Amino acid sequence: MAALAEKTLNKSTSQHLSPATRPSKSLSMEDTTSPRARAGSWDSVSTASGGFLPEIKSKPASIKETSSRRLTVVIFGATGDLAKKKLYPALYQLMLLGQLPRGDKIRIVGFGRRAVELQGFIKKQCANVKKDARLPFEDFASRLFFHGGGAYDKAPGFESLAVLLDELEQGLPTDRLFFLSVPPTVFGACAQHVSACCRAQAPKRWTRLIIEKPFGKDSDSFAELDASTSGSWSEDELFRIDHYLGKEVVLNLSTLRFANQLFEPTWNSKCIESVEITFKEDIGTQGRGGYFDGFGIIRDIMQNHLLQVLVLCAMEPPASDLPEDIQKAKVEVLKAMSIPSLDDAFLAQYTEDNFMSEPGYLEDPGVPDDSVTPTFAAIVLKINNERWKGVPFVVKAGKGLDERLAEVRVRYKSQPYNKLLVGPQAKNELVCRIQPDEALYLKTHTKKPGLEQEVEPTCMDMRYASTFGGSYLADAYERMFLNAAKGDSSLFVSSGELREAWRVFTPLLHAIDKTRPKPILYAFGERNPRGFRDWSLAHSGVKQRQSFMETLSGLSGDAGALRAYFDRYDADKDGTLRADEIRDLARSLYDGRDPPENTLRKFFHLARGFDLKDKITFQDFTYFARCARIAHKSKPRAYERDVCSEK
Ligand SMILES: NC(=O)c1ccc[n+]([C@@H]2O[C@H](COP(=O)([O-])OP(=O)(O)OC[C@H]3O[C@@H](n4cnc5c(N)ncnc54)[C@H](OP(=O)(O)O)[C@@H]3O)[C@@H](O)[C@H]2O)c1
Repeated sequence: MAALAEKTLNKSTSQHLSPATRPSKSLSMEDTTSPRARAGSWDSVSTASGGFLPEIKSKPASIKETSSRRLTVVIFGATGDLAKKKLYPALYQLMLLGQLPRGDKIRIVGFGRRAVELQGFIKKQCANVKKDARLPFEDFASRLFFHGGGAYDKAPGFESLAVLLDELEQGLPTDRLFFLSVPPTVFGACAQHVSACCRAQAPKRWTRLIIEKPFGKDSDSFAELDASTSGSWSEDELFRIDHYLGKEVVLNLSTLRFANQLFEPTWNSKCIESVEITFKEDIGTQGRGGYFDGFGIIRDIMQNHLLQVLVLCAMEPPASDLPEDIQKAKVEVLKAMSIPSLDDAFLAQYTEDNFMSEPGYLEDPGVPDDSVTPTFAAIVLKINNERWKGVPFVVKAGKGLDERLAEVRVRYKSQPYNKLLVGPQAKNELVCRIQPDEALYLKTHTKKPGLEQEVEPTCMDMRYASTFGGSYLADAYERMFLNAAKGDSSLFVSSGELREAWRVFTPLLHAIDKTRPKPILYAFGERNPRGFRDWSLAHSGVKQRQSFMETLSGLSGDAGALRAYFDRYDADKDGTLRADEIRDLARSLYDGRDPPENTLRKFFHLARGFDLKDKITFQDFTYFARCARIAHKSKPRAYERDVCSEK
């Protein structure tokens, strides 16, 4: 392979074919060319793009087509983390499922600056492939190649890559799909060289380029990146990934809204009080703080993933399911969004955890000692259109918190007639849990069985694992590769959307960069940074749920209330709480789902160093509530010291 790289290329560097004929929209993972599907019948349409209106204007590229055409995939940055974690496993899976061609119809070429020993490279970078007997790994491996091409911003490596691709394709007409999995500093140059040197040669064969975030750091840097890519690629050849758009529950947001009658009529400020979009991670930067520190949580998670989720919740029904109509609806809602200021933001940074077993953000070797980069942020966004006037959209994201979770929480307003039975607390909530354990549930009120007219909060629960047991939940990168191969850009982010997204966030980000506000500190593993509940209530009216610590600290001065709380969860009435009873107690604070094991373990440990096998007496419980109150009042860094000195 290295010898090939040495070959000189004697061909023009501007062998552009006209951009691939615009592929039609894609409605289905199956072939939708049947007359029925063409007519747009609901019962025949299972939409790959998330369930938009079936107004079919032209024929989509079907799976039959994508799996039978000859294809070359090139991954730039193939030796990297993303390629190993996601890209090679996704390509294997798509070939396994027959969504991409197999055998001699496909080639997957890794590109790196230096040549590698191919077998060692495959072993390392395919370590996360989930092997399945239906596609022997050797068959997959036999389709993998590598090209050490030198710098990403110099033409020779791309010229020699073109020679290699021609040779591998043996002159047969082949589509080419390129994936830039390299640092953003080389995006522009790499995109230009691919376009100049490596486009598919044969007529009616397409060339497409997938790029990953970050798409700039603000409006100006995005404009620069956009100019460098759009100069050599047309918008329908460029696929900008936001992998959140490939997640099952995110795809379901539009299905839920537009495939049912129940939600859309109430999906507005008359009925909805607030929308909260949450992303939480129970890990920190894990040695990658150097990269993260240059971005912060707002650029890393909020301006892209969470904003895309928000837009899908808030956009008007698109005119059709064509990518351009969907993207138009998304741009329109972004245009109606107000620009948040520093006053609309809550910024925090994690320190070491209360047991000092998890390092704080500043302990990450790549992070400067005086960094004020937020690892947690919450922002209240407003949409100034008729549908959403006055409804706060609270977007929050954080690392080093108590659990891994991403969800959308739509809170309905209580209506005057609710007071007949319940009162102002009778609010419905629709929760769409994106990860982990995908679920949709609706919190309602129901009559409790019995002679009394008692009303109880209940939950209409749809968990993917039970409702769609056995069905295949594709990884977001599988869907992204597949949709790019089909030419369906509805799950990708358009240049117009990014321009608007940066318009919304750039002033706030510049204000943070310039004034360097000191973040609130929170101990690794907390549910929310301290002070966030009050901030949320004051700035958006959204009441955040209490953590263990907050609940028990609130009860600590009231022995009667503490006793009642203890008794409520002492199911077997033996005067102690076992792990399963504590789990029930914790479930009540985690919306019915299992609390993170780590949180339970910490609870037991704090209650006098017990572990999960032990039982907790009321005395231990009282002691823990007292510790919780002290900890709650103290600064996070002093937390462990204060608790210990009480013991
Ligand atoms: N990792 C993730 O989970 C993730 C998630 C979302 C987005 N992304 C984005 O996806 C892209 C790839 O991510 P990654 O985590 O795989 O990155 P990475 O491991 O840091 O780098 C990917 C490859 O790029 C090359 N490279 C590294 N530093 C370079 C430099 N300074 N100049 C030129 N080339 C360099 C290296 O390949 P060679 O030395 O072989 O050339 C490396 O193997 C990035 O833009 C990242 O922001 C990553």
